[in-house]
Amino acid sequence: MGETSERGRRLGAAGSEAPMIPNQWYAVLSSSEIRRGRPVGVTRFGKRLVLWRDSEGNVACLDGTCCHRGANLAAGRVEGDHVHCPFHGLRYSADGRVVAIPANGLEAEVPENFRVRAYLAVDAFGFIWVFYGKPEDAPDDLPMFAEFRGNFPYAERSEVWGVHYSRAIENQLDVIHLPFVHPNTIGRGHKTLVNGPVTMWDADTLTFYVKNEPDHGQTPQTADEIENWHDLNSLQYRVPNLWQNRISDDLRVMAAFAPIDDEHTKIYLRLYQRIVTAPVLCDVVCAAGNVANGVILHQDRRVVLTQRPKKTELKMGENLLRGDKPVIEFRSRREELKHSAEQD
Ligand code: FES
Ligand SMILES: [Fe+2]
Repeated sequence: MGETSERGRRLGAAGSEAPMIPNQWYAVLSSSEIRRGRPVGVTRFGKRLVLWRDSEGNVACLDGTCCHRGANLAAGRVEGDHVHCPFHGLRYSADGRVVAIPANGLEAEVPENFRVRAYLAVDAFGFIWVFYGKPEDAPDDLPMFAEFRGNFPYAERSEVWGVHYSRAIENQLDVIHLPFVHPNTIGRGHKTLVNGPVTMWDADTLTFYVKNEPDHGQTPQTADEIENWHDLNSLQYRVPNLWQNRISDDLRVMAAFAPIDDEHTKIYLRLYQRIVTAPVLCDVVCAAGNVANGVILHQDRRVVLTQRPKKTELKMGENLLRGDKPVIEFRSRREELKHSAEQD
């Protein structure tokens, strides 16, 4: 785990079959889920993938279906830098090529068509990042929030939701739902009236500021009418699949929304805190905070899983409100990025 792993150099490109923003690094797994010595099979971007660590601990990621007769490479084994198919032992390197076919003799030349798609994969900041797009377009920098790149202790939990990642992300951008979904936690105070919200983009990061109030018959303020919005609680979305609640400099809730397929998302939820930094106690506080986060997340889950359709688009016939501005910003940017990738 950590930020030291070397960027893999792999071949391959993503298809257009999944409604993803192309040409992006996605946080798709927790670093701890890929251990040395055995392959791991997951579905991400609607594809069956296999990941493993090579002899130096670098992460490799390939399409998980063997090019011989379709067996799942994740049911095979890791030897040195290679993954071996469980069916007839074909050996794959991290660039997706078959390097040996035992039935033909280990020294025999391997035909060029014996290969599967490979993805760039990196282990950094406690996540496995996979590039969904053309490898030659991959930027060097990963889309992690700057404050979590250094020493900021955290605890993590994860769970799978039965919705597309667009629904799961939009839930975290939704400032209207707080008093209805979280009346006894973060939505206490029956603040049903939504001022603004103020939203702004800085490169690939959307920041939005929450100013909800109890309804005394007043007219909600527009974003332009809100003064001192800088002092309000702010949250951020970072393209393509990260979110954080900036509770204070030393306390943050952060989430990565790993796209499994059109109807499933794995949410990695982290509580970062450096209020209590003493050894052991720090971990206890992180873990306790993350348990509380889980309670809030399950309040969301109860409702989000009922939303139809299970994924969203910019134009989809929903009747959005002014208070939905962060959701609208997300949908617009996603559409724009998908569209510009199609033009390339
Ligand atoms: S199916 Fe993989 S080696 Fe035959
Ligand atoms: Fe919520």
